[in-house]
Amino acid sequence: MSIALIVLAAGKGTRMESDLPKVLHRIAHAPMLWHAMRAGQALEPERTIVVAGHEAAQVQASVLGYDPEARVVVQTEQLGTAHAVAQAMPQLEDFDGDAIVLYGDTPFISQDTLEAMSVARARHDIVVLGFEAADPGRYGRLVTEGESLLRIVEYKDATEEERAITLCNSGVLCADASLLADLVKLVKNDNAAGEYYLPDVVALARANGLSAGVVPCDEAETLGVNSRAELAGAEAAFQARARSELLENGVALAAPETVFLAWDTVIGRDTEVEPNVIFGPGVTVESGARLRAFSHLEGCHVSRGAVVGPFARLRPGAELAEEVHVGNFVEVKNAYLAEGVKANHLTYIGDADIGERTNIGAGTITCNYDGVFKHRTTIGRGAFIGSDTMLVAPVSIGDGAMTGTGSVITEDVPPGALALGRAKQVTKQGFATRLFEMLRAKKAKQSKG
Ligand code: UD1
Ligand code: CA
Repeated sequence: MSIALIVLAAGKGTRMESDLPKVLHRIAHAPMLWHAMRAGQALEPERTIVVAGHEAAQVQASVLGYDPEARVVVQTEQLGTAHAVAQAMPQLEDFDGDAIVLYGDTPFISQDTLEAMSVARARHDIVVLGFEAADPGRYGRLVTEGESLLRIVEYKDATEEERAITLCNSGVLCADASLLADLVKLVKNDNAAGEYYLPDVVALARANGLSAGVVPCDEAETLGVNSRAELAGAEAAFQARARSELLENGVALAAPETVFLAWDTVIGRDTEVEPNVIFGPGVTVESGARLRAFSHLEGCHVSRGAVVGPFARLRPGAELAEEVHVGNFVEVKNAYLAEGVKANHLTYIGDADIGERTNIGAGTITCNYDGVFKHRTTIGRGAFIGSDTMLVAPVSIGDGAMTGTGSVITEDVPPGALALGRAKQVTKQGFATRLFEMLRAKKAKQSKG
């Protein structure tokens, strides 16, 4: 069965108090819209259509950033959810299969739930995702009779009796795409809100002798974001779930509540993550690595057996091969550290390639930026970079070469060579003793006067 996703994302999100459209607010470093789209990916949709409206150009750019093949349609006036779906329908005229409607501000519907809906379509013409609400509030209510769904009534239009129902509408629904196209055309806006309600397609289908059913899910999945406080709540819910998934997959987290993950963080089993490690987007860590306390990682790859931190910073393009050690107060950006490289203290490595088993001494800096351009530093295998070496890029250090402590290296160093780029030491016997005597005498004279 082919699937098309229709993701509604036209709303302004007034209660966010923001210039950014609601669906672009981030949870774990990704727009909430991406989370909604990602859930739908499990169904391997043949087509994805996002309905944008408020700040449509920004929404479109974000959608294409996630899925360049997605189609974005613009709903210029937000006349209701059925009207929004109707805007997507011309994109499905040549499509044969089911359409699933998702909401861009409901980011946590699980893949299993969407699969269950798709399966339930064998029994019903329309499948609606429902949930038992702890506090049903203003949600639409699902009016059922045994297994089947009769209609959905919006809170504003509901009777006292209907308001007492606790089975609520998540908004997500699934139906044959051409049936859905026909039904949304029939929806009217003669209701309390004066809007075209998508949930009305249920009663319309029933009136035409079709069947509708409910697939239930956990209320946590239907969590919608309407305010900054709810966004913070969604972030916390995401983090809690992501941490427990890592634990289930064999990652060691001694203090899970202090570790912050990104939407796409991947960590292999038996890797140890110490307290207060922060992940930005685009991080993959292989099995059996150790991420020590207070490290910050983004856009990087850490291989098996590597040790990072405490207090290390891996920035985009940092690629650590197996058994690499990156220690405290070391920053790595856009650099490849081959197997067994050690950079254990107080170092900046940017725009560099470092060969196997090379040791980078404390305080070493790749001076990669001249104020306008960035330049690369290349260091061979088994080299020894003395402490406090300034590597003024572009520069290369050969295999097995050494640089003297405190050197400023501006010229390439051939393999096996020792480069010294510092002033020669001058030692003056007894000079310190005489200097101290002179200074102390001067101070004594001043304090008398
Ligand atoms: C909707 C449902 C309600 C359900 C609730 C679950 C309707 C009429 N009601 O109510 O039964 O319990 O969701 O959260 O559908 N949107 C558009 N264009 C529009 C209108 C809305 O794209 O013209 C988008 C919004 O940006 C949002 C989503 O559709 O992402 C839902 O719209 P919203 O107005 O929040 O519906 P609710 O009143 O919450
Ligand atoms: Ca809503």
